[in-house]
Amino acid sequence: MSIRTPLIAGNWKMNKTATEATDLVKAIAAAVGTESAVQIVLCPPFTALSAVCAAAEGTHLAVGAQNMHDKTHGAFTGEVSAAMLRDLHVTHVILGHSERRAIFGEDDAFINRKVNAALAASLKPILCVGELLAEREAGTTNAVVKRQVELGLAGVPAGKAEQVIIAYEPVWAIGTGKTATPAMAQEVHAFIRSLLVTQFGAETAGRVRILYGGSMKPDNADALLAEHDIDGGLIGGASLEAKSFVDLVQSAAKSLTR
Ligand code: 13P
Repeated sequence: MSIRTPLIAGNWKMNKTATEATDLVKAIAAAVGTESAVQIVLCPPFTALSAVCAAAEGTHLAVGAQNMHDKTHGAFTGEVSAAMLRDLHVTHVILGHSERRAIFGEDDAFINRKVNAALAASLKPILCVGELLAEREAGTTNAVVKRQVELGLAGVPAGKAEQVIIAYEPVWAIGTGKTATPAMAQEVHAFIRSLLVTQFGAETAGRVRILYGGSMKPDNADALLAEHDIDGGLIGGASLEAKSFVDLVQSAAKSLTR
């Protein structure tokens, strides 16, 4: 059995008004109860964070943002800081999602500054990495993931590395209904853990959660979560409805008993 607590995170992307988000949190909280062996993090859009934090109070659910800026304050129109998120009782933040990289031009250096800023503010970063289809076909998956992990975690003190969560999200699997096979995903997860061993040592690397993301659904989750280095999921589409999301939480709980 793994020493790592499984984590299921919902990335709601640009979905759910604050009202819709509150309903979803209540439905998830009612189904999960106050006890679970699985850590659960809900990541609504900024506009719903306050409502989700309020609805999640006293439940087993933690709340994450989908992005933040690395600076503490200033003339950065449209951005939010780590302190603003902390003030709402947000505990996690997704950083470097492939949609931020591809659509909004975020590079590894910018993402790295955000990772360090999040840690400095005691927010847990969920650092997303993953290759494009063309990169997988060209055989460069490991090189791409290595660059994203090493540059993304540059300057992270070993003492804080356990706070980091990595999400391996092959870009070709996101929102496409195509998943990496459990063996394909496990291979990359084990590779990522080997990079963490090099940077932080075996003990710390053994404690970092590495999530899989990319069309994870109730019908493929058991097999993915059974893999040794897959410690949970970062869920897009299937996180938008309570039933499918809670099914995934239950799959993660089951993975502990195998
Ligand atoms: P899907 O689960 O919709 O493929 O999205 C995955 C994702 O991008 C989570 O961050």
